[in-house]
Amino acid sequence: MIDLHSHILHDLDDGPPTLAGSLEMARTALADGITTMAATPHGRSVFSRRYSVELLQTRLAELRAALAAADLPLEVVPGTELFCAADLPAQLKAGALLPYGTSRTVLVEFPGDVQPAAIEQMAFALQIAGYRVLIAHPERIKVVQRDPNVLIPLIERGVLMQLTADALTGEQGTNLRQIAETLLSHQMIHVIASDAHGAHLQRMPFMTPARRRVAEILDEAIAETLVHTNPAALLSDAPVDAPAPKRITPRRWWQYK
Ligand SMILES: [Fe+2]
Repeated sequence: MIDLHSHILHDLDDGPPTLAGSLEMARTALADGITTMAATPHGRSVFSRRYSVELLQTRLAELRAALAAADLPLEVVPGTELFCAADLPAQLKAGALLPYGTSRTVLVEFPGDVQPAAIEQMAFALQIAGYRVLIAHPERIKVVQRDPNVLIPLIERGVLMQLTADALTGEQGTNLRQIAETLLSHQMIHVIASDAHGAHLQRMPFMTPARRRVAEILDEAIAETLVHTNPAALLSDAPVDAPAPKRITPRRWWQYK
């Protein structure tokens, strides 16, 4: 499996404070069946005041050397979790923020109270600048929780959605699990990733339980697409499997139990 969202690099954001913590995450990920992990520390924002591409590259080199020394075959690809800001296209162009590896795909997160028009404005500006946009954990955005159909115009314009694995498996509560299942069953999710911050925290580098859940709710082929095929396509600028999203019809009051 390919995990496109993790905070595995140490001493950079709210990921592990030490290199030993990064190695522990790598061991946990490998045991779970993850073979490639994108290191996506928070870009400079309230979550990370220390981010720089230079520091990211230093931490990545340290991790790769430690993985080789420990004989751990985890491939780590650089990336960044970009926090929505008007200057993102300019910062990317200037090399002050990173897409995934050598690709044109960017991972973007939005504040929970963002409005659909602001998401569209940001995503389309990045697309015009030549980037493919993957939105981090849309299940955490309040307007999406109220009405997932707000994602449809974005998906129809080629914007992709990354669901967090443990939202689907219930570690983030029943409400988020139900939203995750609704998004999945309406073809609004293109990638599942861990968003792991450590080996002992709530968000750990696990994808297998979520993969199994997708296979139960939908089918095995879709599960493979979300944890491997689409992530691989995003890293190599290849086409992704993104079927037309299904509109959710609001339930009538008598349909609620
Ligand atoms: Fe994250």
